[in-house]
Amino acid sequence: MNENLSKLYIPKHVGIIMDGNGRWAKKRGMPRSVGHKYGAENFRKITRYISKTGVKILTLYAFSTENWKRPMEEVNALMKLFYQYLVDSLTDFREDDIKVVFIGDRSAFNPKLVELINETEEVAKDRKGMLLNIAMNYGARDEILRAVKSLCSDVKDNKINIDDITCDDISSRLYTGGEPDPDLIIRTGGENRLSNFMLYQAAYSEFYSTDTLWPDFKADDFDKAIIEFNKRNRRYGGV
Ligand code: IPE
Ligand code: IPE
Ligand code: MG
Repeated sequence: MNENLSKLYIPKHVGIIMDGNGRWAKKRGMPRSVGHKYGAENFRKITRYISKTGVKILTLYAFSTENWKRPMEEVNALMKLFYQYLVDSLTDFREDDIKVVFIGDRSAFNPKLVELINETEEVAKDRKGMLLNIAMNYGARDEILRAVKSLCSDVKDNKINIDDITCDDISSRLYTGGEPDPDLIIRTGGENRLSNFMLYQAAYSEFYSTDTLWPDFKADDFDKAIIEFNKRNRRYGGV
């Protein structure tokens, strides 16, 4: 771990919206898919680094429920990369004792990819290191809709009364059920929006946006985000 961080408070849960792969490639006169390849490479490196900083949960936004709108060639290139990098990351993540979980609707993926996703989770299930949530075909509205449906079904089956439903009942039905909300959400690529990422969980997350494009986001950039996070005064509506 970088000594920059040794005296700082390390957030328990960090979310990262990994944006800017396409622009990174365009700046270099290369196809967007090349940006995704470098982005995937960076995903492996930065995850290993973050796992050593003391962060307990890292949620990485890799593919949104809206990203299917992209040209077919780009979606196909991304799916191929997910497959390749999952295979490659397995060894790294084992060495670092990282527990990998996928959040989002995996049923939309090719069966071979679904099999690899399931297998990756299975081999990692007893690991004690950082929890890595990879958000793939993830959308917060879809996640909230699922929670609502699950609650409606419990009401219908008389398992819960409408008047007894609490915010915790909603939280526990999200993909991140049982996990603390993200303390810090980092977005690379310069946009200042959530793009359907953790809308429910982000109620009091600190937001950090950097112009750095995802393939260029390195350990030092992560450290900068932590330094900035340590300057924030989280009031949660109090004084
Ligand atoms: C983020 O990079 C990766 C995914 C959304 C899959 P983009 O592909 O959105 O890159 P830009 O924002 O177009 O540069
Ligand atoms: C957000 O990036 C989704 C991921 C990083 C996976 P987008 O590039 O899809 O977001 P918009 O379109 O700029 O809002
Ligand atoms: Mg983008």
